[in-house]
Amino acid sequence: MSLDDLGLIPTIKRYADFFYEETGIEVNVKILSIEANLDIYRNLTVFRIIQESLNNIKKHSHAKRVVILIEANKKRFNLVIKDNGKGFDMNELNNSDESMDSGYGIIGIKERAKLLDGILEIKSDISKGTKITLTFPMEREDESHEQGFNNDSR
Ligand SMILES: Nc1ncnc2c1ncn2[C@@H]1O[C@H](COP(=O)(O)OP(=O)(O)O)[C@@H](O)[C@H]1O
Ligand SMILES: [Mg+2]
Repeated sequence: MSLDDLGLIPTIKRYADFFYEETGIEVNVKILSIEANLDIYRNLTVFRIIQESLNNIKKHSHAKRVVILIEANKKRFNLVIKDNGKGFDMNELNNSDESMDSGYGIIGIKERAKLLDGILEIKSDISKGTKITLTFPMEREDESHEQGFNNDSR
């Protein structure tokens, strides 16, 4: 609801404030540049990825600080979510006995990234923290046709 009214960035900032009040974990939202806006569907997908990442940070990380970086140029949208918590071993995540009932959060994040034709990377270092990087194109090929843009690369 607030996504549609306020737009993505103010909604993220407001959510970050709520998150701080609830958890005491500071979230610094840095907008490097916004040269273009996303449609409602992508706004929601990005917001859900941020929500699930912050949820994991609250649940698992023992972090004190989170930085969310956003940069959107006309071609690509780039998002980084970085915490200074305890980190985790990605291998353990994949091989864990509990992988049947735990681990849907990260799977969900990856699924959402795929829906955006995006590339998602998770880097985690024990004791240094966790960094999630998402990058996706502002428009899909089929959409750029619909809107009558020419693709320079062809
Ligand atoms: N920011 C984080 N800091 C530390 N550990 C994390 C973080 N995010 C995820 N994890 C680890 O990855 C596991 C899988 O996360 P997820 O797929 O969301 O499942 P769940 O949160 O249900 O355990 C978590 O159980 C936790 O061990
Ligand atoms: Mg989770």
